[in-house]
Amino acid sequence: MANSPSGDSMTDRIVRVLETFTAERSMQSASEIGRRAGLPSSTAHRIVDELVAAGLLERDEDRRVHLGMRLWELALRGSTALRLRQAALPHMEAVQALIREHTQLAVLEQDEALFLERLSHPDAGANITRVAGRLPLHASSSGIVLLAHAPGELRDRVLASPLRAVSPETVTDAARLRRILAEVRRAGVAVAPGWIESVSTGVAVPIRDAGEVVAALSVVLPREAPPEPAITALRAAVRDIELALRADRR
Ligand code: PHB
Repeated sequence: MANSPSGDSMTDRIVRVLETFTAERSMQSASEIGRRAGLPSSTAHRIVDELVAAGLLERDEDRRVHLGMRLWELALRGSTALRLRQAALPHMEAVQALIREHTQLAVLEQDEALFLERLSHPDAGANITRVAGRLPLHASSSGIVLLAHAPGELRDRVLASPLRAVSPETVTDAARLRRILAEVRRAGVAVAPGWIESVSTGVAVPIRDAGEVVAALSVVLPREAPPEPAITALRAAVRDIELALRADRR
């Protein structure tokens, strides 16, 4: 792959262009993209033109660009995320119908919890998770489940990094988190009251595929709600999701 005078490859530059898009910043001009990606304007305009021609970016009448549907199509095709989502969705619907609060599916991705799916009830309370959004591993119930079952090396790295407080109740003490992670492995559930927002409690359980924890299934409850009915519903759903994953492997 041809390198630029600064030594970065074409792939590096394309990735930097794509990464300038966020949930809050979904439309940008080529100049804005260039500035945010740290690329010369002419380079940014050329890469954007080529990505638009390939359908990975789309351009509207006022020449602002957004991520293309083709990118979504390619990213999902045959992906682990799609397989998990398809196995989980009917059973997430069952949890949501029973508990009538937000139900979500998350995986471990680059030391964060990445949310693949979220179902919401019209009467459900606050929830900051977004599909294709992320939360810190140490601060969310899903993240704690994923961290509890992650390789020891990853756990050590996360616990040794600065542990940001998302709310005043987020646990940021590494020694206390280690004890919590051990308890989550023992109990098979994580309950995170007020760790993300003081008004809500996250409750999450692990999903296994071929013996390995591959995802976390969670609900976000109003802070005052008891977690037990949600734990029962999540565990029942996980049994069915694990059966669906096993059937899919055959
Ligand atoms: C959690 O998983 O702990 C969680 C996620 C989103 C919220 C609250 C809690 O808004």
